[in-house]
Amino acid sequence: MRIVLMGPPGAGKGTQAKKLVETYGIPQIATGDILRAAVQEGTALGKKAKEYMERGLLVPDDVITGIVKERLKEIDVEKGFILDGFPRTIPQAESLEKILEEMGVKLDAVINIVVPQDELIERFTGRRVCEICGATYHVKYNPPKQEGICDKCGGRLIVRADDEVKTVEKRIDVYERETKPLIDYYRSKNLLVNIDGNRPIEVVFEEIKGFLRGEG
Ligand code: AP5
Ligand code: MG
Repeated sequence: MRIVLMGPPGAGKGTQAKKLVETYGIPQIATGDILRAAVQEGTALGKKAKEYMERGLLVPDDVITGIVKERLKEIDVEKGFILDGFPRTIPQAESLEKILEEMGVKLDAVINIVVPQDELIERFTGRRVCEICGATYHVKYNPPKQEGICDKCGGRLIVRADDEVKTVEKRIDVYERETKPLIDYYRSKNLLVNIDGNRPIEVVFEEIKGFLRGEG
């Protein structure tokens, strides 16, 4: 199964991707997570990406495409993958098409998680992430068992660096301008599946699974 998870910042792409990994045993390829790890490690990529991420801007297409191309060479993608946060521009989508063509495979679906803007802000203000394993929580919608501590690894829960309201507003704005056109792009390729993401995490997950089982 080869799928793309799309949707505005805070739509729940990462949350759903993690659940799909557990259910289907295929890897999540999250460009945001790859970049955050590079920033934390202080690599050349990390230093470059940080400037863009801090401002809520997209990292240049060639940089991101190079990362994904390399990642898709790894053996664990043989049975499929979940792309989370990529592609995010038309040029990225076109590059992906070429990469997959070279691999001799095709996308099965692009799942677009739809959430209204006012709800997104609440998701950011309540989001907490584990500084060790990256697990994501929400103080109201998906709280950890013990406040401030990750259920999975015991790590400390922190606020993501780009979750400040001003940066979030910029990210939503960038989404509207640069990423939203992908909805029509994938619709025209008959790959687009809209999922109402403005419902509890488990309900959204059941609907995605239903679609993937062919019930959608
Ligand atoms: P990235 O990390 O991809 O961030 P994003 O797209 O802005 O999305 P988020 O990760 O913020 O949200 P999400 O949809 O994963 O939601 P989550 O599951 O966490 O990218 C960060 C930056 O990296 C970009 O700004 C850019 O600079 C760069 N970058 C990355 N990819 C790039 C690319 N391809 N090209 C160029 N630059 C790139 O959920 C959010 C919160 O809501 C959580 O607290 C969660 O618990 C809660 N929640 C989730 N689902 C629900 C629900 N159904 N109901 C209630 N609460 C929910
Ligand atoms: Mg995410």
